[in-house]
Amino acid sequence: MSDRILLTGAGGFLGRHTRPVLEARYGAGNVTAVSSAGYDLMDRRQVDALFETVKPDIVVHYAAYSGGIGANSAFPADFYFRNTVLTANVFDAAAKAKVKKLVYPMGGCSYPAIAKSPIDESQLFQGYPQKESAGYSTAKMMGVVAAQSYRKQYGLNATVIIPGNMYGEYDNFHPRDSHVVPAMIRRYYEARLNNAPFVEMWGTGAPERDFVYAGDVAKTIPFFIESFDESGPVNISSGTATPIKQLATTIAKVAGYEGEIRWDTSKPDGQMVKIFDTAKMSALGLSCPTSLDEGLRRTANWLAKNYAGRGDGLRL
Ligand SMILES: NC(=O)c1ccc[n+]([C@@H]2O[C@H](COP(=O)([O-])OP(=O)(O)OC[C@H]3O[C@@H](n4cnc5c(N)ncnc54)[C@H](OP(=O)(O)O)[C@@H]3O)[C@@H](O)[C@H]2O)c1
Repeated sequence: MSDRILLTGAGGFLGRHTRPVLEARYGAGNVTAVSSAGYDLMDRRQVDALFETVKPDIVVHYAAYSGGIGANSAFPADFYFRNTVLTANVFDAAAKAKVKKLVYPMGGCSYPAIAKSPIDESQLFQGYPQKESAGYSTAKMMGVVAAQSYRKQYGLNATVIIPGNMYGEYDNFHPRDSHVVPAMIRRYYEARLNNAPFVEMWGTGAPERDFVYAGDVAKTIPFFIESFDESGPVNISSGTATPIKQLATTIAKVAGYEGEIRWDTSKPDGQMVKIFDTAKMSALGLSCPTSLDEGLRRTANWLAKNYAGRGDGLRL
């Protein structure tokens, strides 16, 4: 296959997992991987220049403005505006360039705050997302509207996927705005370095979440490029409920921390169960097979290897 593939957001977390998958399948010479240093995709002229230069047949559009709940709360307009423009610019350019396929991910935070677990795709648009990150999540959700609209008007074959709570190498480990898995890995790793006798966690540890290894998500992308011609969305996750307490114990083990884990039960637990329904994904013959133990081990090893280099561009 000699299709030209354009991967945006290639320097980010999922992009770094996906680039080698695309290069292995389609040939490194056929994959153009860009990040914001090469093209600012907020600028439509730069988007057009990129499409003119690469002439892609396939676009995997990861470029997004993402951050933790703190940043989302403080700068909701920036999250809304930038993600809206990044989505609109690339869908429109892809349609005008008549690409054969556009693959676009959005997040599970776009589901309604009151969604019932296991959350299946039909619950999207059935309620307002968690308000703290609604600027980001509603802008990303417009990917579904864009996919349907551009398919109808321009025949653009765009597909939206919804990866669950991803974790893995290259994740954002910065204490200010990291997600639960990298935040915990870093805490236990540092507790081990500092010989801390205990690590205190918030809540009871009873809430359940499902986690998906980013490498597994990346490996599904060729399927969506080659074999899925609907707008979606399709959840991509492990579908396995893991109590936060079990997550903490496993992470302590893989990070080599042998001290005590204390639970401050006076602190709130948040939503008790939030897991994704993966029936649609399974029916397509897809799976996310990396066990939590194995995925966490790889992620903790990656942090240990890169910890000393934090500050050199890694989000550590
Ligand atoms: N992480 C998750 O758990 C998760 C879950 C579901 C869906 N998603 C979606 O998956 C995609 C990838 O997520 P991620 O976690 O890999 O995000 P990420 O690490 O923040 O990477 C985002 C990438 O977008 C690029 N970017 C931002 N603004 C840009 C601009 N103006 N022009 C060009 N490139 C720009 C960044 O480039 P620079 O670094 O060079 O600035 C970065 O490489 C996103 O669309 C996200 O919404 C993520």
